[in-house]
Amino acid sequence: MKLLFVASEAYPLVKTGGLGDVAYSLPVALHKAEVDVRLLLPGYRDLLRKLRGVRILGWLELQGAGQLHTVRILESQHPDYPFPLWIVDCPALFDRPGNPYLQPNGYDWADNVERYTVFARAGAELARDALQLDWTPDVVHAHDWQTGLVPAFLDMLPQRPQRIFTIHNLAYGGHFSQADFTRLHLPSYWWSGEGAEFYGGFSMLKAGIVYSDVVTTVSPTYAREICTPSFGYGMDGLLQSRSYKLYGILNGIDNDIWNPATDKYLPAHYAVDAIQPGKSQNKAALLQRFGVENPAEHLPFPLLGMVSRLVEQKGVDLIINAIPDVLAMTDARFVLIGAGHGYFEQRLRELAAQHPERVFVFIGYDEQLAHLLEAGADMFLMPSRFEPCGLNQMYSLRYGTPPIVLHTGGLADTVTDAVDGFVFHEPLTSVLKGTILRAIDCFYQPAVWQQLQTNGMKHAFGWDNSATDYLALYNKGATA
Ligand code: ADP
Ligand code: GLC
Repeated sequence: MKLLFVASEAYPLVKTGGLGDVAYSLPVALHKAEVDVRLLLPGYRDLLRKLRGVRILGWLELQGAGQLHTVRILESQHPDYPFPLWIVDCPALFDRPGNPYLQPNGYDWADNVERYTVFARAGAELARDALQLDWTPDVVHAHDWQTGLVPAFLDMLPQRPQRIFTIHNLAYGGHFSQADFTRLHLPSYWWSGEGAEFYGGFSMLKAGIVYSDVVTTVSPTYAREICTPSFGYGMDGLLQSRSYKLYGILNGIDNDIWNPATDKYLPAHYAVDAIQPGKSQNKAALLQRFGVENPAEHLPFPLLGMVSRLVEQKGVDLIINAIPDVLAMTDARFVLIGAGHGYFEQRLRELAAQHPERVFVFIGYDEQLAHLLEAGADMFLMPSRFEPCGLNQMYSLRYGTPPIVLHTGGLADTVTDAVDGFVFHEPLTSVLKGTILRAIDCFYQPAVWQQLQTNGMKHAFGWDNSATDYLALYNKGATA
């Protein structure tokens, strides 16, 4: 089977969140299952710099906003990938530094609508082998709003591959205006309630949902939640009407990259049958990394950790409100790595300034530090208001760092209260606080704590089962 996997980010080339992890590890797992994969990515500046042995596959003339773009399609190998990467190289749209979606000032690039329309056009052209590479995919798998137009463009082909679209987060709809729709010369038949039109504008995510043969999302619970008004962002009715083609498949984690016994970013390794002293050594290293001079003095006390995009979804406000009381009532310490909304960043910096001995905050993105935190913290905070899947709670379970989560989406599907972590049911500061206090009580009971850690570390969250589920969907369409 030939699969064209189209995504706007992929570890370790460019990553802003869990999508980047999945766009790496799912196609790698499928490759192991003997799928012939090509991963198509935009040629961002930082990504191109990481590639070696690039060759040009050909050129495409693609319609942008009022102008044609000459786009080079590159093929490259990368040591982490066992199959070729295909890159859409269009400097006018992608030769920019830093975050793929945001300007340095934190706002979206004003031409995102054009950037991801051209990217999607390239995906659709490659799917019909416009460059005559003698490689025509049986399946095209697109992800999130940035690639939502890929299945839509493929809709116009008489003979087309099976189209799978995965929603990683319904909160990001790729909403643009009717003027954009016109400027980009998008097919007029898409402009309908049954097409990409959405409340007077158009949505790339909606296009992906409407024009795909199969829609998946990243956990069974989230698949049910998005069919309700509370989680549906106005698309719950649409999704309900498409429930015949909607599936929830839980993400896996990459057990090679996220393994405390081998993790290349950790100063000390450990495993389920010997958690100590490795875990404590990582805790000391983590504290040292934050400038703590006498980490040994802190080791007996619970260290609460969090790695997160600092956005409302993640319940950062609940944390900011709960932590001061937790500090007052216990000996806990708190360490956070995150970046996002300036307001949250500022409040967290203030919290650290108020408690320099007990609150440690790093504002920024740091893959290595994220691994050290997963290993070095005692428990992991993830009070997301909604969470399509969530990877960090699975990393935490694997690293013997029991997670504290709200019962929602993928968190509900992966964490069991008092067995491997702590689950609460209302997104309220008081309830979060009570749950943290309950977790701290358990921390001081070594036998109870070790049992929680062991239960979590024994989970098998690898990709094997999920990749098999995706394969079954690919095959279903191919034979339908
Ligand atoms: P989401 O995709 O909604 O951000 P996930 O839990 O699925 O949430 O995945 C988040 C991924 O991004 C994890 O791999 C996590 O370690 C990583 N991550 C998030 N913020 C940071 C950060 N500031 N520094 C390093 N890694 C981060
Ligand atoms: C999104 C979701 C997150 C999920 C990730 C990968 O970013 O917010 O819950 O784990 O995609 O699917």
